[in-house]
Amino acid sequence: MTNDQGSDERQVTAIYPGSFDPITKGHEDVARRTLRIVDRLVIAVAHSATQAKSPLFSVQERLEMLEELFADEPRVECTAFEGLLVDFAQERRARVVVRGLRAVSDFEYEFQMAQMNRSLWPDVETLFLAPDVDYSFLSASLVREVACLGGDVSRFVSPSVLERLLAKCGGGR
Ligand code: PNS
Repeated sequence: MTNDQGSDERQVTAIYPGSFDPITKGHEDVARRTLRIVDRLVIAVAHSATQAKSPLFSVQERLEMLEELFADEPRVECTAFEGLLVDFAQERRARVVVRGLRAVSDFEYEFQMAQMNRSLWPDVETLFLAPDVDYSFLSASLVREVACLGGDVSRFVSPSVLERLLAKCGGGR
Protein backbone atom coordinates (compact mmCIF):
# COMPACT_ATOMS: atom_id res chain seq x y z
CA MET A 1 0.00 0.00 0.00
CA THR A 2 1.73 3.23 -1.12
CA ASN A 3 0.51 6.81 -1.42
CA ASP A 4 0.77 9.17 -4.44
CA GLN A 5 4.29 10.11 -3.49
CA GLY A 6 5.28 6.48 -3.53
CA SER A 7 6.02 6.58 0.19
CA ASP A 8 4.82 3.85 2.47
CA GLU A 9 3.26 6.13 5.10
CA ARG A 10 -0.11 4.44 4.81
CA GLN A 11 1.31 1.04 5.46
CA VAL A 12 0.40 -0.43 8.81
CA THR A 13 3.43 -1.47 10.80
CA ALA A 14 2.95 -3.49 13.96
CA ILE A 15 5.43 -4.27 16.69
CA TYR A 16 5.39 -7.65 18.36
CA PRO A 17 7.48 -7.19 21.50
CA GLY A 18 8.51 -9.87 23.92
CA SER A 19 11.25 -11.76 25.65
CA PHE A 20 11.17 -14.65 23.13
CA ASP A 21 13.41 -16.74 25.40
CA PRO A 22 13.14 -18.74 23.18
CA ILE A 23 10.56 -18.13 20.46
CA THR A 24 7.93 -20.89 20.59
CA LYS A 25 5.52 -22.11 17.95
CA GLY A 26 2.88 -20.09 19.80
CA HIS A 27 4.82 -16.87 19.20
CA GLU A 28 5.43 -17.89 15.61
CA ASP A 29 1.72 -18.53 15.12
CA VAL A 30 0.82 -15.09 16.50
CA ALA A 31 3.42 -13.42 14.25
CA ARG A 32 2.15 -15.18 11.12
CA ARG A 33 -1.47 -14.35 11.98
CA THR A 34 -0.47 -10.70 12.39
CA LEU A 35 0.96 -10.69 8.87
CA ARG A 36 -2.56 -11.40 7.57
CA ILE A 37 -3.73 -8.01 8.81
CA VAL A 38 -0.76 -5.63 8.75
CA ASP A 39 1.76 -4.69 6.07
CA ARG A 40 4.92 -4.95 8.11
CA LEU A 41 5.83 -6.57 11.38
CA VAL A 42 8.73 -5.69 13.66
CA ILE A 43 9.43 -8.52 16.07
CA ALA A 44 11.30 -6.89 18.91
CA VAL A 45 13.26 -8.58 21.67
CA ALA A 46 13.15 -6.49 24.83
CA HIS A 47 16.40 -5.98 26.71
CA SER A 48 14.30 -5.25 29.78
CA ALA A 49 11.18 -7.28 30.33
CA THR A 50 8.59 -5.94 32.77
CA GLN A 51 8.59 -9.16 34.76
CA ALA A 52 12.16 -9.79 35.94
CA LYS A 53 13.49 -13.13 34.74
CA SER A 54 16.86 -14.78 34.37
CA PRO A 55 17.11 -15.45 30.64
CA LEU A 56 18.39 -18.71 29.18
CA PHE A 57 19.43 -17.14 25.87
CA SER A 58 21.22 -13.84 25.36
CA VAL A 59 19.37 -11.12 23.45
CA GLN A 60 21.73 -11.77 20.51
CA GLU A 61 20.91 -15.50 20.50
CA ARG A 62 17.18 -14.81 20.67
CA LEU A 63 17.51 -12.41 17.77
CA GLU A 64 19.41 -14.98 15.72
CA MET A 65 16.64 -17.54 16.31
CA LEU A 66 14.00 -15.04 15.18
CA GLU A 67 16.00 -14.10 12.09
CA GLU A 68 16.42 -17.76 11.13
CA LEU A 69 12.70 -18.41 11.47
CA PHE A 70 11.54 -15.39 9.50
CA ALA A 71 14.30 -15.35 6.88
CA ASP A 72 11.68 -16.22 4.24
CA GLU A 73 9.38 -13.32 5.16
CA PRO A 74 10.44 -9.94 3.71
CA ARG A 75 7.70 -8.13 5.63
CA VAL A 76 9.23 -9.11 8.96
CA GLU A 77 12.10 -7.32 10.63
CA CYS A 78 13.66 -8.77 13.76
CA THR A 79 15.39 -6.45 16.15
CA ALA A 80 16.09 -5.74 19.80
CA PHE A 81 15.18 -2.64 21.77
CA GLU A 82 16.11 -1.04 25.06
CA GLY A 83 13.99 1.22 27.21
CA LEU A 84 10.28 1.81 26.93
CA LEU A 85 8.29 -0.03 24.29
CA VAL A 86 6.27 3.08 23.46
CA ASP A 87 9.45 5.07 22.77
CA PHE A 88 10.65 2.36 20.42
CA ALA A 89 7.22 2.18 18.75
CA GLN A 90 7.20 5.95 18.24
CA GLU A 91 10.69 5.83 16.75
CA ARG A 92 9.50 3.19 14.29
CA ARG A 93 6.22 5.03 13.58
CA ALA A 94 4.31 1.91 14.60
CA ARG A 95 1.01 2.54 16.36
CA VAL A 96 0.05 -1.12 16.71
CA VAL A 97 1.48 -3.39 19.39
CA VAL A 98 0.64 -7.08 19.04
CA ARG A 99 0.39 -9.46 21.95
CA GLY A 100 -0.78 -13.05 22.10
CA LEU A 101 -3.58 -13.81 24.56
CA ARG A 102 -3.64 -17.48 25.48
CA ALA A 103 -6.10 -17.64 28.32
CA VAL A 104 -7.93 -15.56 30.91
CA SER A 105 -4.84 -15.87 33.13
CA ASP A 106 -2.90 -13.71 30.66
CA PHE A 107 -5.51 -11.01 30.68
CA GLU A 108 -4.66 -9.01 33.80
CA TYR A 109 -0.98 -8.56 32.96
CA GLU A 110 -1.70 -7.82 29.31
CA PHE A 111 -4.48 -5.38 30.14
CA GLN A 112 -2.23 -3.52 32.60
CA MET A 113 0.52 -3.24 30.00
CA ALA A 114 -1.89 -2.10 27.28
CA GLN A 115 -3.37 0.59 29.52
CA MET A 116 0.04 1.75 30.76
CA ASN A 117 1.36 1.93 27.21
CA ARG A 118 -1.72 3.91 26.16
CA SER A 119 -1.27 6.30 29.07
CA LEU A 120 2.35 6.87 27.96
CA TRP A 121 1.42 7.27 24.28
CA PRO A 122 -2.31 7.77 23.62
CA ASP A 123 -1.95 6.92 19.91
CA VAL A 124 -0.80 3.34 20.48
CA GLU A 125 -3.27 0.48 20.09
CA THR A 126 -2.68 -3.00 21.47
CA LEU A 127 -3.95 -5.81 19.29
CA PHE A 128 -4.54 -9.09 21.11
CA LEU A 129 -4.48 -12.24 19.03
CA ALA A 130 -5.38 -15.75 20.15
CA PRO A 131 -2.86 -18.38 19.09
CA ASP A 132 -3.91 -21.70 17.65
CA VAL A 133 -5.58 -23.81 20.34
CA ASP A 134 -2.69 -26.29 20.13
CA TYR A 135 -0.47 -23.61 21.65
CA SER A 136 -2.93 -22.15 24.13
CA PHE A 137 -1.08 -23.65 27.11
CA LEU A 138 2.40 -23.03 25.79
CA SER A 139 4.88 -20.65 27.38
CA ALA A 140 8.58 -20.05 26.79
CA SER A 141 9.26 -20.55 30.50
CA LEU A 142 7.66 -24.02 30.46
CA VAL A 143 9.54 -24.90 27.28
CA ARG A 144 12.83 -23.86 28.94
CA GLU A 145 12.09 -25.86 32.06
CA VAL A 146 10.93 -29.01 30.29
CA ALA A 147 13.78 -28.91 27.77
CA CYS A 148 16.42 -28.41 30.45
CA LEU A 149 14.98 -31.30 32.47
CA GLY A 150 15.25 -33.59 29.46
CA GLY A 151 11.62 -33.49 28.28
CA ASP A 152 10.62 -33.55 24.63
CA VAL A 153 9.64 -30.07 23.43
CA SER A 154 9.95 -30.80 19.71
CA ARG A 155 6.22 -30.13 19.17
CA PHE A 156 6.48 -26.69 20.70
CA VAL A 157 9.49 -25.09 19.02
CA SER A 158 10.87 -25.11 15.49
CA PRO A 159 13.79 -27.45 14.71
CA SER A 160 16.40 -24.66 14.68
CA VAL A 161 15.24 -23.50 18.13
CA LEU A 162 15.18 -27.07 19.41
CA GLU A 163 18.77 -27.54 18.33
CA ARG A 164 19.86 -24.47 20.29
CA LEU A 165 17.81 -25.52 23.31
CA LEU A 166 19.43 -28.93 23.38
CA ALA A 167 22.87 -27.40 22.99
CA LYS A 168 22.19 -24.90 25.77
CA CYS A 169 20.63 -27.37 28.21
CA GLY A 170 22.80 -30.30 27.21
CA GLY A 171 19.57 -32.19 26.63
CA GLY A 172 18.99 -31.99 30.40
CA ARG A 173 20.42 -35.46 30.74
O1 PNS B 1 7.23 -11.84 26.53
P1 PNS B 1 7.09 -10.96 27.73
O2 PNS B 1 8.26 -11.11 28.65
O3 PNS B 1 5.77 -11.11 28.41
O4 PNS B 1 7.15 -9.44 27.14
C1 PNS B 1 7.01 -8.34 28.00
C2 PNS B 1 7.44 -7.06 27.26
C3 PNS B 1 8.83 -7.20 26.73
C4 PNS B 1 6.48 -6.78 26.13
C5 PNS B 1 7.38 -5.89 28.29
O5 PNS B 1 8.14 -6.25 29.40
C6 PNS B 1 7.91 -4.57 27.71
O6 PNS B 1 7.23 -3.93 26.95
N1 PNS B 1 9.16 -4.22 28.09
C7 PNS B 1 9.81 -3.01 27.63
C8 PNS B 1 9.89 -1.98 28.76
C9 PNS B 1 8.55 -1.28 28.91
O7 PNS B 1 8.09 -0.55 28.05
N2 PNS B 1 7.90 -1.52 30.09
C10 PNS B 1 6.61 -0.98 30.39
C11 PNS B 1 5.51 -1.83 29.77
S1 PNS B 1 3.90 -1.25 30.22
